[in-house]
Amino acid sequence: MTKNIEIKVSLEVFSKEEWLDEDAMLINKAKEILENAHAPYSNFLVGAALLLENGGVFVANNQENVSFPVGICAERAVLSYAMGNFPDSRPLKIAIVAKRRVDNQLATVTPCGLCRQTINEYEVKFNHPIEILMLNPQEEILKASGIDQLLPFRFNDLNS
Ligand code: THU
Repeated sequence: MTKNIEIKVSLEVFSKEEWLDEDAMLINKAKEILENAHAPYSNFLVGAALLLENGGVFVANNQENVSFPVGICAERAVLSYAMGNFPDSRPLKIAIVAKRRVDNQLATVTPCGLCRQTINEYEVKFNHPIEILMLNPQEEILKASGIDQLLPFRFNDLNS
């Protein structure tokens, strides 16, 4: 008989009336900054806003390149900047918003695999989950309590 290892994951869904002020602030900042994305190849604009424990709020967007793999996602851009400048301040939450340039509509976005692994890195560094807030086109916030909800069976240990 085969043995299974199962992990159940879930996201909380918050309609606009239920948004926390702090979450709304981050989502609005992510929505604003996506307009500055450099995304001439995908026309998919992504903004990310990160809140650190020291109260700092940082924003970034996706920056693409004619050599496609060179581009960087909004999430990794903001985490690299914030962690490079404030290496001792724990990231509390990251908000992500995306829009298609073609129809100017919000798009459903969840972080790509590379960004999930990057978020995991800072959870491990600070030994604490980072909330991930994702806006969907219905303007609901999908909230992951930590990267374990998006990246089960993640790689985070060279020694086990
Ligand atoms: N992208 C992000 O910046 N964040 C995500 O969570 C998903 C994807 C970017 C990468 C690329 O510039 C474009 O969106 C299309 O994949």
